[in-house]
Amino acid sequence: MAAAALKSVCLSAFDYKTEKYVIAQNKRVGILYRVVQLAVLGYIVGWVFLTKKGYQETEESIQSTVITKLKGVTLTNSSDTGVRLWDVADYVVPPQGENIFFVVTNMIETRNQSPGYCAEVIKTGVCLKKDTNSTGTCEIFAWCPIERSGKPQKPLLAKAENFTVYIKNSIRFPNFKFAKSNVLDTSNNSYLKSCQYDKIHSPYCPIFRLGDAVLWTGHDFQDMAKEGGVIGIFIEWNCDLDKSASKCNPQYSFNRLDLKSSPVSVTSGYNFRYAKYYKNSKGEDYRTLIKVYGIRFDIMVNGKAGKFNIIPTVINIGSGLALMGAGAFFCDLVLLYMMKKSTVYRERKYESVALMLVPLFFLIYINDQDKNTSWLSLPMTLNYCR
Ligand SMILES: *[C@@H]1O[C@H](CO)[C@@H](O)[C@H](O)[C@H]1NC(C)=O
Repeated sequence: MAAAALKSVCLSAFDYKTEKYVIAQNKRVGILYRVVQLAVLGYIVGWVFLTKKGYQETEESIQSTVITKLKGVTLTNSSDTGVRLWDVADYVVPPQGENIFFVVTNMIETRNQSPGYCAEVIKTGVCLKKDTNSTGTCEIFAWCPIERSGKPQKPLLAKAENFTVYIKNSIRFPNFKFAKSNVLDTSNNSYLKSCQYDKIHSPYCPIFRLGDAVLWTGHDFQDMAKEGGVIGIFIEWNCDLDKSASKCNPQYSFNRLDLKSSPVSVTSGYNFRYAKYYKNSKGEDYRTLIKVYGIRFDIMVNGKAGKFNIIPTVINIGSGLALMGAGAFFCDLVLLYMMKKSTVYRERKYESVALMLVPLFFLIYINDQDKNTSWLSLPMTLNYCR
C-alpha cells in the first residue's frame, strides 16, 4: 500500500501540469484587463525602453581631467598703483591651469610695509592720544603702515570681462573603454584661434568669454568684479554609446555659487591676501601686502554613458511580464469580489473536490465538519488527491 503510493508520487513528478482557465464573459472586466495590459505595455515600451533606455547598461564613474588657459591683457591706471600692465601671470591664481582658477578683478595694495609700531583701531597695546579731547587709537606691533579699511568702489580690471578661457576637458568611461575630449576634432588649425563658445552657434568650441560665463548665471560681470564671487561651470557628459562617438558631446551650464541672498549681503564676494617680500639695501625686511578681489571659477564634470547589454534588457522584459501578471491579479480581485455576480464566478473558479485518498507523505488533518475550507483547494493537496 505504502509502496504503491510512493510509486504514484514518483510518477507524478514527471507529469506536466498546465493551468485551466475560466473565461468570464464579462465586458467590463474584459475591457479593464485590456486597459491594464495597454498601460503596462505603454509603460514598458515608452518609459522603460525608449525614455530610460532600459536596454542599456549604464556607467556613471566618469574619469576626467581639466586644463584651463586664460588669454587677455589689460592696462590699468589708478592713483594707487599708477599705470600698470596686467597679463596672465599677473591676474591668474594659481598659474598651472587647474579646474579651479581665480581671476583678479580688483585689489587693495599696501606698499612698503615693515615691522614696527603703528596705530590700529583694535583695543590692544598702548593707547595713543593726539590731545586730551580725542578718543585715541591703540598702538600695536605689526607690519606698518597697516592696510586701509573700506571696500573698493569700482573694479580695477573692468576689462577682464573680455578675457577668454580655454577649457580642455578629457574624459574616459573605463568600463566601456571610451575616451573623448570636449575639443572638436577638426583639421582646421585656425578654428580654436577664432571660435568662441555659444550655446546655439558654436556649442563645440571650448573657449569662453568670462563676461558671458557670468552673464549666463544671471549676474553682471562689472557688479561681481567689485567684490568678487564664485562661478560654477558644469560640464555634463551624457553619452549614448550605441550611437557614433561624434554624438557624444558635453553640455555646459553656469551657476553663481557664492550665495547672494540679498543684493547688499555682507557675505557675498570673494577675496584673499598675499604678500611680496623683499629687503632694502640695509638688509631690512619689507613687504607689499595685496588684498585681491576676484572671480573664482570652479569647473565640475560629471556624466554617464549607456550601451546595449542583454542582461538589463532581459531583466526589464521580465519585470514587465511580472507587471502584466499583477494586472491579471487585480482584474481577478475585481471579478471575484467586486462584481454583482461575483459569487457565481467564484463558484466556477474554485472547485471543491471531495476527499478520496489522504496522501501518506502529507499527514493533513482534515476536519470533517469543515469541508469547504479553502486550504483543501491548495493545488498541492489536489495533486496528490487526484
Ligand atoms: C569688450 O569688448 C567689446 C567689443 O570688443 C567692447 O565693446 C567692450 O567695451 C569691451 N568691454 C570692456 C569692459 O572693455
